[in-house]
Amino acid sequence: MPQILRQFKEENASCVLRARTDKFSDVEMPQRQSLKAQARTDVRVFRDAHIIQIESILKIFYIFKDTLMGLIFGVEQMNETIERLNKLKKERNAVILAHIYQLPEIQDVADFVGDSLELSRKAAQTDADAIVFCGVHFMAETAAILSPDKKVLIPDVQAGCPMADMITAERLREFKKKYSGAKVVAYVNTSASVKAESDICCTSSNAVDIVKSVDAESIIFVPDRNLGAYVQKMSEKKMILWNGFCPTHNNIIFPEDILKLKREFPDAETLVHPECRPETLALADYALSTGGMCKRAAQSSNKDFIIATESGILYKLKKDNPSKNFYHASPLAVCPNMKKITLAKTIDVLLNMKNIVSVPDEIREKAYQPIVKMLKIA
Ligand code: 13P
Ligand code: SF4
Repeated sequence: MPQILRQFKEENASCVLRARTDKFSDVEMPQRQSLKAQARTDVRVFRDAHIIQIESILKIFYIFKDTLMGLIFGVEQMNETIERLNKLKKERNAVILAHIYQLPEIQDVADFVGDSLELSRKAAQTDADAIVFCGVHFMAETAAILSPDKKVLIPDVQAGCPMADMITAERLREFKKKYSGAKVVAYVNTSASVKAESDICCTSSNAVDIVKSVDAESIIFVPDRNLGAYVQKMSEKKMILWNGFCPTHNNIIFPEDILKLKREFPDAETLVHPECRPETLALADYALSTGGMCKRAAQSSNKDFIIATESGILYKLKKDNPSKNFYHASPLAVCPNMKKITLAKTIDVLLNMKNIVSVPDEIREKAYQPIVKMLKIA
């Protein structure tokens, strides 16, 4: 059995075991829910090669059902919904920030669509009274840490990030004791309480610069082992990596997917997100954050691109560059949590001013420092 398949099976087996034996008890709700949901998704998607096809098509159909309904029932109903949302936005003096992985209709109504670094900056700068954060929980939490005087709303409180849930503050504290003297760089895909235990944050677009800026003998990097391994290579720093990963990038996108497309489109530029496995990243012309991919696609004179990240980015890439071609490395690479955000839920939270994301003052004050440090450096 190829090494990559063996590793994948082991990872999923441990995920299944955790899901079955309810070993998420050290993790808080709703993070526990997102881990369980992700474990179940992984198990289902990968159980059998034939089931993958049927189940995933159904799953993708379910995820994009609002988009499809819009297409089937025409634009009129959609226009009414958008009008209602815009009216509510004005009444509440709210701004909608959306991650690049969001559904097309969410990207279309958002005031700003960006990667996690760009969204943090927008959240810190906006003078709106409310921020509707169309993304996953840690992103909304980061906005709440940066703008405590604003109401930050998330359309679905269950939209977590399984990678962020692979580390807790308690486990990080234990890890720090083991490697005393090391400084902690926390990927922004972490909870506020993990950030509060860290020296500085980073995102996938500034991770190399941030790690290079840290003055320490060794650096603990949490939680993404793939981004960590990439940064270690680029910065040549001594790094201790937490064993976390993104199920969408690590378990769905494989080198074979890219090699197949490279054979078909030999002149295409290959853009890979650093959350992918090292062997997948090794095939990249550019390792880039989602925002970095959008910039590269716009600036490059190349016409064809192979894209290795979550599916939502394809909509933005095609919309911004209609004359260029984008080939998705794996159309099954869908983040189920990102897709929990729908137009109906977005309207609902604005209408009822509910699902307010807040961080207790004690944690917020500690988590604020590593985020602001990051924003000052890169
Ligand atoms: P970006 O920083 O590229 O937006 O990535 C965030 C993320 O969650 C990727 O899975
Ligand atoms: Fe988390 Fe991966 Fe989804 Fe990004 S794509 S939010 S890292 S699970």
